[in-house]
Amino acid sequence: MKIEGKEYRTIWFDEKNQAVKIIDQTKLPHQFIIKDLKTVKDAINAIKIMEVRGAPLIGGTAAYGMVLAIMEKNDPNFIKQSSEDLIKSRPTAINLKWAVDRMMKKLSDVNNNEVLKVALKEAKTLCEEDVKFCENIGINGLKIIEEIYNKKKDTVNILTHCNAGWLATINWGTATSPIYHAHKKGIPVHVWVDETRPRNQGANLTSYELNEEAIPNTIIADNTGGILMQRGEVDMCIVGTDRTLSNGDVCNKIGTYLKALAAHDNNVPFYVALPSSTIDWEIKERKDIPIEERNSEELSHIEGVDENNEIKKVLIYPKKSKAMNLAFDVTPAKYITGLITENGISEASSDALKKMFR
Ligand code: MRU
Repeated sequence: MKIEGKEYRTIWFDEKNQAVKIIDQTKLPHQFIIKDLKTVKDAINAIKIMEVRGAPLIGGTAAYGMVLAIMEKNDPNFIKQSSEDLIKSRPTAINLKWAVDRMMKKLSDVNNNEVLKVALKEAKTLCEEDVKFCENIGINGLKIIEEIYNKKKDTVNILTHCNAGWLATINWGTATSPIYHAHKKGIPVHVWVDETRPRNQGANLTSYELNEEAIPNTIIADNTGGILMQRGEVDMCIVGTDRTLSNGDVCNKIGTYLKALAAHDNNVPFYVALPSSTIDWEIKERKDIPIEERNSEELSHIEGVDENNEIKKVLIYPKKSKAMNLAFDVTPAKYITGLITENGISEASSDALKKMFR
């Protein structure tokens, strides 16, 4: 997708400098900085401090992280240790483990002089696949938006939470892909963007990328969605997911569950968009999903730019107060109207998911 009219992906391999390039998302929307990752430690750190984030992009970065490990030291022990360190860098998004496992499997019986070549090819393929999957999610989700538009004959208002946009994937996004496709087709859309405290991925990233693609959007405080739904100002919700259980339960950014409850109470369709790499076929119960708890400083401090355009961080809570920062919650399948995937729209249930993917 575009930034100031120029097409970008969120991650790519720079052959000339033998480095992985990323867009540093901790600086957006105020500064657009492209950064080099040169070691596996750089990749781990980028995932940990969320220079890259969003389930599919975390997966893509982990795949390239494996390439960087091999470039550093083509030694089976180091490669194995690096794969374990990468998996530990963030706990909730299943794409991370999925990508590392896929890379390790691909490399398992490759001879030593071929390892780097094979790894680089696989990381590129994995990212290309993600682009294709996200594009297909857009084509499939477009049908739902079109249907609403054909009935309403007016702008379709879509609410989204966090950033499940192109910045969270390699291109297109998951939740945003149907929106981009609708916009390209000339269907008038407007997006209610949940600010998404504490890190403000909605305000800082979703609104930013929608602006760059000239898609009308309005940032709202996280608690505003409910009243907008009661007023009939939301036609549908589309969110992303970090891990979808085989029973259709969806783990996504904290606050998603409350939006699903409000949507259910107001008969607003609630869709989740995901590539199949986000499905966890192993964990059966939502209580077993590892929910990331991040530093409470993400709540107690806030970042912005001052009058000189310099990024500043300030304390907003009482100095003595404690804060708790759970990063994800789980929305039970019963509140989900449908899962928009690369293969089509599935009911959020074991039978439907199995039928579509197994
Ligand atoms: O903590 P983040 O910013 O990595 O959380 C991202 C989300 O919750 C997204 O909705 C999810 O990863 C889906 S991305 C297509």
